Formats: sequence, structure tokens, C-alpha cells
Amino acid sequence: MQSTFSLVILSCICVVLADNKVSLPSYVTPCNISDKHLSQCVKEQIIVCLPKFTKGIPELKVPSLDPIKLDDIKIGGNGLDLTFFEASMEGISDSKVTDFKINLGEVDEEFSLSFKSNFTLKAKYEVDGRILILPIKGKGDAFVYAQGVEVQISSKLTHFKNNKGEHLKLATPTYKYDIELTTFDLQNLFNGNKQLADTTLQFANQNWKQLMDELAPPAIKQIVVTGVKAINKFFASVPISQMIIGYKETL
Ligand SMILES: *[C@@H]1O[C@H](CO)[C@@H](O)[C@H](O)[C@H]1NC(C)=O
Ligand SMILES: *[C@@H]1O[C@H](CO)[C@@H](O)[C@H](O)[C@H]1NC(C)=O
Repeated sequence: MQSTFSLVILSCICVVLADNKVSLPSYVTPCNISDKHLSQCVKEQIIVCLPKFTKGIPELKVPSLDPIKLDDIKIGGNGLDLTFFEASMEGISDSKVTDFKINLGEVDEEFSLSFKSNFTLKAKYEVDGRILILPIKGKGDAFVYAQGVEVQISSKLTHFKNNKGEHLKLATPTYKYDIELTTFDLQNLFNGNKQLADTTLQFANQNWKQLMDELAPPAIKQIVVTGVKAINKFFASVPISQMIIGYKETL
């Protein structure tokens, strides 16, 4: 009994060792290189997988992107001194893919992904100074609701080879973004003086674009850097031939 049991375990281990293939998560369906609409097939896979991908794939070493922890963000100059710390950004897993392009097999391979999301930034804040004309001072919990944030990431694709096969990599990512609307909720402004706080917050929200001109660039940059790292982790774990059936390695 005992030895049969060991044998079963041993043969399982051997099967695992012999099978060098990475197992794709069950929600990924590989596309076929012979498919006339290959890039449409890849796009559909991205649309299906993005909500799950952004929650992380531990077995492929892809970290969760929801929430994304952000480094401290300081907004300064023009008489305003505002810092967000212990910040995290929620919402990327509810993104909708708004555009996707990939041209595998061409001389210059490129990748472009646009997605749109509503983000909530949760942080501690500390502020002193003025917003345009109004004084502002306080510290406490901050919630920043950024609605309709559309981010486009574009990159050249390069290939590299390791013991598992040939892989893709986003080599030179660039990005741009657009934001429809932002609402700031800075709690405990003016030590909790509600009347002063309400007036100032209302004014800040009417002028959200000025504040976001400074807050959005560092926040979006960190989202893109973290996202590109996760995509490259996925690419480094899964050879192209496992994402695209019939792919002939070129390296
Ligand atoms: C891929 O497409 C080719 C051509 O249509 C077909 O012969 C082949 O069976 C397909 N492979 C798979 C695994 O579906
Ligand atoms: C963002 O929120 C708006 C307003 O609530 C909603 O209409 C829109 O569908 C949301 N967008 C996404 C990508 O979830």
C-alpha cells in the first residue's frame, strides 16, 4: 500500500518535471497563427483576460495591479504645498479595453493598448498654502475619484529567448492619457471646520484640472510603469508559441 502510494507520487513528480510547458490560466485561449484575423483574436483575448490579469496570476509571477501602491506624490509651487502619502490606486481591474493593436510578424512589431477606467486614489494627505486664491490647510484621509481615465500604452516589441522558448517584451513603452472628471475629498481640512472645508473643496473641485495637471502625471506614470512590468512578467513566463499556436520561433 505504502509503496504504491509512493510510486504514484513519484510518477506525478516525473510528469511535472517532464512537462516543461507553462500552464496558461484556464481563461486564456491561445490564438492560431494561421487565423486570418489573428490580431482580432488577440484583442478578444485581451478583453476577456484584462479584468483577471489585473488581479494577478501568482503561478506566473504576475503581481496584482488592483490596488496599485504609489510612491509619495508632492505637488508644489504657486504657493501650494500638497503631499499624498501611503497612496494606492484602485479600479484598474474594472477597465474597459478601448483600443488594441498588435502587428506580430512584421519587421517593426508594435503593441498598443488603450483602456478606460474609473480610479479611486486613497491616501493620507497634508496640505498648506493656497489653491489659486483660497487658503487651504489640513491633514487627514484623502479620496480622489478620477472618472473616465483613458490611458494608451504603446511600445515596440522585441523578442528574447530563454530555456522555455522565445518570448515577447515591451521594449520602449510610451503613454498618453486623458481624464474626464476628478472629484477631491480631503477629509479634516482646517481641523474639521466644515464651513471652511466645504467652501475650499468646492472651489478645488471646480478647478480640478489645475490640480490634476500636477497630480495626474506622477500617478499615471506609476500606473503605466507597474502595468508594463506586469505585462513583461507575463511575457517572460509564457513563450510566444504557447500564446500563438503554430508560431515558428525566429531566434
Ligand atoms: C490552426 O489553423 C490551421 C489552419 O486553419 C489548422 O489547420 C490547425 O488545425 C489549427 N490549429 C489548431 C490547434 O487549432
Ligand atoms: C465610470 O463611471 C461612470 C459614471 O458612474 C460610468 O458611466 C462608466 O461606465 C464608468 N466607467 C467604467 C470604465 O467603469
